[in-house]
Amino acid sequence: MVENFQIQLVENSNLTAPVLNHFVKPNDISNLVAQYGTPLYLIDENTLHAKVKELHTAYAKFVGPLKIAYSIKANFNPAILRAFITDGITFDLTSLGELHFIKRCKAVPENIIYTSVTEEFEEYLEVLQSGVRKVVVSSFNGMTNLAKAADRAGIKLPTIIRVNPEVGVKAGVRASYRNGKFGVPFNGGTIDSAIKMIRHLMDNDLLRFEGFHFHLGSQITDFSCFIHALDKMDAFMTKMKKEYPNFRVNTFDIGGGTPVFYDEPVPSPAQMAENLVCRLNQLANSHGVFQLLIESGRFLVAESSILISKIVNMKEYNEHKIVIVDSGYHLLLDAALLKQGYPQEIVSLPKHDAKTTSLIPTKNIHLAGRLCDTYDIFPLSKSSSLNDADIGRYISFHNVGAYSLVFNMPFHCQIKPPVIMKTAKGEFKLVRKGRSYEQLFTEEGGDLT
Ligand SMILES: Cc1ncc(COP(=O)(O)O)c(C=O)c1O
Repeated sequence: MVENFQIQLVENSNLTAPVLNHFVKPNDISNLVAQYGTPLYLIDENTLHAKVKELHTAYAKFVGPLKIAYSIKANFNPAILRAFITDGITFDLTSLGELHFIKRCKAVPENIIYTSVTEEFEEYLEVLQSGVRKVVVSSFNGMTNLAKAADRAGIKLPTIIRVNPEVGVKAGVRASYRNGKFGVPFNGGTIDSAIKMIRHLMDNDLLRFEGFHFHLGSQITDFSCFIHALDKMDAFMTKMKKEYPNFRVNTFDIGGGTPVFYDEPVPSPAQMAENLVCRLNQLANSHGVFQLLIESGRFLVAESSILISKIVNMKEYNEHKIVIVDSGYHLLLDAALLKQGYPQEIVSLPKHDAKTTSLIPTKNIHLAGRLCDTYDIFPLSKSSSLNDADIGRYISFHNVGAYSLVFNMPFHCQIKPPVIMKTAKGEFKLVRKGRSYEQLFTEEGGDLT
């Protein structure tokens, strides 16, 4: 443990005011909705590349090799995967379905890290047979299955252990808590602890200890949890070195969590890395340089995308206005699940500009989805502006690139909308076709008599 290490929390006043990503002009929106209808997702390829660069730059002062890994659970759209492949980054996968997608998009196996929750033998065998050589295990049983798969594949495999540092995390989604489902504790448990798994690996013909992984949560804005987790890692590594003088960590993957602006301004990756890199460098100085992996789902994709929806109905209720749009939580699940207030804006199209602005304050405007469900109300972000809401106008939901497309569901027989990418060349390209009701009927077995 390093003494006198001060955690400097990012002061709120240092946070930069958020700027929404207006990568499509109102006229383009007008043309695109005329062609494809609404709801409609739009993705900006340039933003994807810019986010990779920003994350890389933020951690550039780390003393060892650095890799950025895209957690494809955030958005597995193949056009996004192909864009990131050109950036040469790593992909963080957690299922054979994701492996299939990433192979079809032709990512090289060296750029894959596989972290499973299920950890089955057949799963690991397919992963190894695909050429993946970075695997994270999260249980003793999983490690045994990986060893059997390595034996069948005829390889000796570097193995990363996922630890649960059991630190308090203030975040939208927490993944590190006592008795949690992810990873293993340092000590304790019967066989499911980092110490017992390392002892097993130190004397294993099929697996070789490679390093550690932890993932603390998503949308983390208070970075003290990382410092606490690194302090615990430091103490644990010191303990392991006493037991095994040749103990060495080659890879250290500190998971995801980089936050995105939705409601309140959030620290930038540079502000986040300022504290972390300093602590990580101390760890490398004390225990030997390792390769650092920064995983990110949300940050890399969220700001790249907007959802365009149409205002289809409205009603007034005392001093309140209910604005009803043709999307719902079947397209933006986290609006209902996490009460995520995506910044919403009325698209200003020339033919609507003459309309008078509503006198009803934004706080009395309720943005409702099209589902017949109480929870289908979109929380407003502090930067939402809906005063010009009117039937027939379009509304853009900003920063919807993460954990949105991947949750699209057919509740109320709703169909997946099309997705358009604005390519790096500035062209609009259809990257996912919208479905029809007939396709949904067939998928649901309507033709199986
Ligand atoms: C193991 C792991 N790594 C990375 C991530 C990505 O987190 P974020 O989207 O907050 O960057 C997740 C998200 O659930 C995860 O489970």
